[in-house]
Amino acid sequence: MNQMGDFAFRANESSAAPAVSPEVAGYICRDTDGLWVGIEKCIDNGQHCVFVTDASGKLLGRSDMADLRRAVARGAHLSAVQMGDFAQSVSDDDQSSVVTPVLDLDGKVIAVDVHAERNFLPVAEPDLTHHELRNLMDAFLSNWISSTGDYIRSLEQRFADKAGVTYGVATSNGTVSLQLALAALGIGEGDEVIVPDFTFAASANAVIHAGARPVLVDVDRDTWCLSPEIIDAAITPRTRAVMPVHVFGRAAPMTEIAALARSRGIYVIEDCAEAHGAHYDGKPVGSFSDVASYSFFANKIITTGEGGMCVTNDADLAARMRMLRDHGMRPERRYWHDEAGFNFRMTNMQAAIGCAQLDRMDELLAMRRAVSASYERAFENVEGVWLPTHRGSRFDDVVWFCCARVDAERRAALIDACRLANIDLRPFFNGLSSMPAYRPYARPCPNSTALGREGVNLPTSRRVTPKVAARIAAIFQDVLTRKL
Ligand SMILES: Cc1ncc(COP(=O)(O)O)c(C=O)c1O
Repeated sequence: MNQMGDFAFRANESSAAPAVSPEVAGYICRDTDGLWVGIEKCIDNGQHCVFVTDASGKLLGRSDMADLRRAVARGAHLSAVQMGDFAQSVSDDDQSSVVTPVLDLDGKVIAVDVHAERNFLPVAEPDLTHHELRNLMDAFLSNWISSTGDYIRSLEQRFADKAGVTYGVATSNGTVSLQLALAALGIGEGDEVIVPDFTFAASANAVIHAGARPVLVDVDRDTWCLSPEIIDAAITPRTRAVMPVHVFGRAAPMTEIAALARSRGIYVIEDCAEAHGAHYDGKPVGSFSDVASYSFFANKIITTGEGGMCVTNDADLAARMRMLRDHGMRPERRYWHDEAGFNFRMTNMQAAIGCAQLDRMDELLAMRRAVSASYERAFENVEGVWLPTHRGSRFDDVVWFCCARVDAERRAALIDACRLANIDLRPFFNGLSSMPAYRPYARPCPNSTALGREGVNLPTSRRVTPKVAARIAAIFQDVLTRKL
């Protein structure tokens, strides 16, 4: 093995210590750096590896997160280990690593090459940094690892502020937060809740587990969400609530939906699991309803691993949700239960991660917008692919998963071709009415059915550079120009 090797030499190398860009610096550790410097750089650069150099910038080797993790698990951080101890030699003909160093003639690292195609590209992955790690360690070290702690209180308040409402009630996930909202509003046996047919199954499951009946209705062809007209047509004397879902980050027309619900005397429970930060008519989604529910699952815009949140402007409802979340126990009288509640609590450790994610929310939303813009450019001239368009000034959508619609006949071939290229494409949710679990509630929902057949979610993470988007578009182009 050669530690310097014949790497792709660049022109105009200087023999002075190379001044590298901040991006490249994110991949470089000094041999004298401590173990945690390497770990934090591995997390922050998103590639889980670093290059170790001497004082002059000369490459000594590479170090992968897997080795650093093992070292921490063995307690190596208790000794005086340095990153130089973790430098593995680098092959000069490395055809498998995702990140390879570019050296000058003196063997100094002056750049890195990212070979994205060598890695599996998932549709989604959590975007974590040293900020989340430090908060998590802080929560752990505080010994407040269950559902009491400063991070919980902080996440609830700060998230509610972002959603433009007064109270936040953190939960263990975005499914039970819907159940909590339904229970707190007294919705159950004999009640109907209007739910879009085109959503993740959790929206309807929560209604079923609350003992009520989900009334599945079609979505609007253009917004992919509920419309006031669709809701109006489905209201019966049994209807207690409507559950608009801002699917894939696309805001439903909430001003009109909230006005209709008010006029018909039904509750609105907004399912914002996929739309943190979206706005309609200049107001955050989540601020239009009696209760709004969010998910913080690992693929969501903001994550806590597993987790969720209910937000509301109603102090009594917030107090009731807190009580029901905690076994139905009266907060001022220990072990006194007026009703049978749930354990739907979030831990302080999850909230610690969530607080760091919230600090980064603008950055995370901007990253997703940039990915979406890369796809728009890459697919500009690819016939047979329809990307969602901007919908006018009232809708301020966010990007959760980037979306594309294609000819239903071609979708499986596209998914297969991407899989062969190590890229994960995910078919849209199936319309709920099409599946056995929801047969008792099924209705003809042509728009939802068409979306379920034609839609694909494209990888949406910081790994999707313009080059990666172009690669995906080229695969689409290739498949879509083949004869059927
Ligand atoms: C629309 C919608 N509602 C509810 C949920 C449930 O959230 P969780 O997975 O946190 O239970 C999800 C999660 O994927 C979702 O997409």
